[in-house]
Amino acid sequence: MPTYKYQLSEPQSEIISSHASRIVVCAGRRFGKTWVSGSMMFEESTKKAERPKKTWFISPTNAQSRENMWRDWMDRYIPLQYYERKEKEMYAKFYSTKSEVYLKSADDPEHLRGSGPDFVIFDEYRDQPKGTYDIVYPATTDKGKDHKLLIISTPNGYDEFYDLAMKAKRLQESGNKNWAYFHYTSIEGGNIEEEEIEQARKTMSPKMFAQEYLASFETMTNRIYDGYTESINSNSKIDALIREVNLPHDILVGIDFNVNPMTAAIAFSIPDAELKERIIFFDEISEKNSSTQALCDMLKKRFPGKNIITYPDPTGKKRQTSSIVGKSDFDIILSNGFKVCSPYAPYQTRDKFNTVNASLMNAKGESRVFISATRCPHLVKSLNGYSYNDKGEPDKTSGLDHISDAMAYLICYRMPFLHKNRIYIPKILGI
Ligand SMILES: Nc1ncnc2c1ncn2[C@@H]1O[C@H](COP(=O)(O)OP(=O)(O)O)[C@@H](O)[C@H]1O
Ligand SMILES: [Mg+2]
Repeated sequence: MPTYKYQLSEPQSEIISSHASRIVVCAGRRFGKTWVSGSMMFEESTKKAERPKKTWFISPTNAQSRENMWRDWMDRYIPLQYYERKEKEMYAKFYSTKSEVYLKSADDPEHLRGSGPDFVIFDEYRDQPKGTYDIVYPATTDKGKDHKLLIISTPNGYDEFYDLAMKAKRLQESGNKNWAYFHYTSIEGGNIEEEEIEQARKTMSPKMFAQEYLASFETMTNRIYDGYTESINSNSKIDALIREVNLPHDILVGIDFNVNPMTAAIAFSIPDAELKERIIFFDEISEKNSSTQALCDMLKKRFPGKNIITYPDPTGKKRQTSSIVGKSDFDIILSNGFKVCSPYAPYQTRDKFNTVNASLMNAKGESRVFISATRCPHLVKSLNGYSYNDKGEPDKTSGLDHISDAMAYLICYRMPFLHKNRIYIPKILGI
């Protein structure tokens, strides 16, 4: 029998000490969810039992099982002398008990077959396909076995994990000893620095922060840019400011290349001691049956003598929207004497939306981006109306995506909250 010792935080100890056979844990990011899952798996596999136990650990993807449990947990915390392991299959068998562990992934239904496990762990259930619990559940119902289930996740709105969490809470409260429900914020986990929380407050919208770090079930509206609030980001003070201010030399232009419509969101920057800068969108272009060159002509006419800095759709580096053979959209902009600011890699859609929402209002209540409702009616309509469809994908059929995309390219480049230390390497062409 191994006597290997590891230390759990207080909330983790509460979870592992539960006598319930169905345990649902709702906890924030980096609470230590995967860690406590590993500990429970280890404990179940090594404790004295009448017969060997079989544990399934299910992650949303195979890569997550390998990364988060096989490498980051088992490699580090279970000494090799305790178990034999098959690398490729991510299978482990403990010498002392003959108990087995299988690491699986929810995105491959083949992975979820097999004969009755005694203990099933669903890690980060919110990212697992709908119905995964129902697919696995029958495998845990053979007679004469006391199956145990651990469903652990950060919340994601009112989804299937919410239903399971509320079921567990309700049954626990009604005195059913089989079910247990635990809820912890990231801070309660004790593994996260105050600095990281502070950073998250700055870079996330209030709802996103509440969901990810306070583990709260939030109504995520269908609106993609639900960080936009007309009374905050487009109040009458913005129009007054635009009227009073002298237009700076630098005119910032986010561009979405599209023939119908060709769109641009036009802004200037005001330096800010605390936030570095505020960006004011004071003009826009949304032209049907247009071209990249026509857009450049319009900008030159509207802003003579100004320094025009563009933030185009990064894919325009190679793409040719207009009919000029051999010239990319970037080439056309550069040949008009404008600057082009673009990252090497396109922005990830999710990051793009998060960055814009956090710039409109972060969890500290700070707003960095403002839009004139009178001068940018298309942009305001897009911020209010661009939504997710029933499948949870951005609904591009509405045509509301273009001008807010144009705005997003500008914001993501100038305020890259979420891209630091990642794929994001800004590059300025033409200077
Ligand atoms: N009991 C513990 N002892 C030491 N480190 C821990 C413990 N629990 C969690 N951690 C550390 O905290 C971090 C977050 O843990 P993890 O389980 O990955 O969180 P989650 O799955 O909730 O996002 C990891 O770096 C992990 O090493
Ligand atoms: Mg985890």
